[in-house]
Amino acid sequence: MIGIFDSGAGGLTVYKEIAVAYPEKQIIYLGDLANLPYGSKSPEMIRRIAEKNIDFLISKGAKIIVIACNTASGRSPLLKKRPVPILNVIDPAVKLAAESTKNNKVGVIGTLGTINSGAYEERIKNINPKISTVGEATPLLVPLVEENWIDKIETKRILKHYLRPLKAAGIDTLILGCTHYPLLQPQIKRIMGPKIKIISSAQAVVGELEKTIKNKKIKLNPGVHQFYITDYSLNLDKISQKFLGKKIKFEKVHLF
Ligand code: DGL
Repeated sequence: MIGIFDSGAGGLTVYKEIAVAYPEKQIIYLGDLANLPYGSKSPEMIRRIAEKNIDFLISKGAKIIVIACNTASGRSPLLKKRPVPILNVIDPAVKLAAESTKNNKVGVIGTLGTINSGAYEERIKNINPKISTVGEATPLLVPLVEENWIDKIETKRILKHYLRPLKAAGIDTLILGCTHYPLLQPQIKRIMGPKIKIISSAQAVVGELEKTIKNKKIKLNPGVHQFYITDYSLNLDKISQKFLGKKIKFEKVHLF
């Protein structure tokens, strides 16, 4: 069983990619709506929440876990070691970005928590110290996606404002460092122009997952995909419909 968790329904963008690769295998998704948003929480709180979510997924039988949330992935070095591999969405995206950049200038957009953690910058430097990273916190984008303002002129203006410093810095690669941003990818691409390579952390993690499952010889059983949440939200159905194109049946669990 593959376990996935995120602060809410946003991680369904990651689930969607994983489900394409493993349609018939057991997958369990946990949307931690009780603690949403992670983006503005302290590092210690994010760590404690992540530990609980991981314990839950392991108790359900997960043999490998994907932290689908970028904010929680930023704090992954703080997490306890577990008997199962724990992947995060930052490391695979960083690897792809380091391979993609020709001018050694990479941009990353994410929540305040992700950008303030400096995780992308630090992990890119570890791979190649010559690469400079320009990070931009773009906290308005999550609510805009959740309110389905994707094609509004206001969203275009906000995106232009957020992306201006990245364009000015001359980046040739941009990482979408948040679960919600793949839904804005066409708009971002239009603003950044065709020459800029865009890397979605949701897509990047699938390759890493496949590699780890193979290398560690993890046995995945056939079965259904299960969806859990720690709380309901009024727009949960709307968002999951938007992200997956279909309605999902969520079961509520009490973890907090
Ligand atoms: N899932 C979060 C992320 O990828 C965005 C939403 C939140 O702030 O919890 O950073």
